[in-house]
Amino acid sequence: MHDFRPSLLPSGAHADPAVLARLSGLVNEVYAEAESGLWHAGAARTTVEEVAELTAAGQIAVACLGTYIVGCVRIRPPDHRAAEFGMLAADPAHRGHGIGHELVAFAERRALDSGRPVMQLEILTPRSWTHPSKEFLAGWYTRLGYLRTGVSPVEGSYPALAPLLATPCDLVVYRKRL
Ligand SMILES: CC(C)(COP(=O)(O)OP(=O)(O)OC[C@H]1O[C@@H](n2cnc3c(N)ncnc32)[C@H](O)[C@@H]1OP(=O)(O)O)[C@@H](O)C(=O)NCCC(=O)NCCS
Repeated sequence: MHDFRPSLLPSGAHADPAVLARLSGLVNEVYAEAESGLWHAGAARTTVEEVAELTAAGQIAVACLGTYIVGCVRIRPPDHRAAEFGMLAADPAHRGHGIGHELVAFAERRALDSGRPVMQLEILTPRSWTHPSKEFLAGWYTRLGYLRTGVSPVEGSYPALAPLLATPCDLVVYRKRL
């Protein structure tokens, strides 16, 4: 069993093209499969520019195999009470070894350490059909102690993203008291 203990990516890594290419490539590869059918062709989950910004802001944590990034998560404090994570991805070649679990636990520890005892996440979910990846996530987060607390249409929260969707979707919000 490997040690995938996550760490925050140093903000200076925002200037490392190899790190940014790997991060954006990993997220886009993983989400292309996990969100297949939700987006029009050509809509990528992220860009090199976005991961550079998030890295510079100290919001990206990674799990590595040696120096190779095999998982990542974005940790964002949206307000003073709830922290939020997103852009969670594990390399498909290394699934089921605890990378996802370690990244979520890392995000939760950081939230607690910064005095935010509530963690939040959103699952983009098709409104009128079930997506196997989203069903898996809903079950997994529930097993991790998250409760479904709300649902809102994408067009309400992220109007710029709505036209890129191939099917109507909601953002289902989950929260956990840490
Ligand atoms: C969610 C994700 C990060 C989990 O990564 P991971 O490294 O496999 O996670 P873990 O090894 O900690 O396993 C997490 C759970 O998945 C289950 N699992 C992992 N691989 C599996 C597989 N091939 N088949 C069935 N279940 C599997 C594990 O049993 C575990 O469940 P448990 O905690 O109840 O035992 C990964 O599946 C992923 O990148 N998914 C696509 C992106 C995504 O949907 N992100 C979340 C957006 S909110």
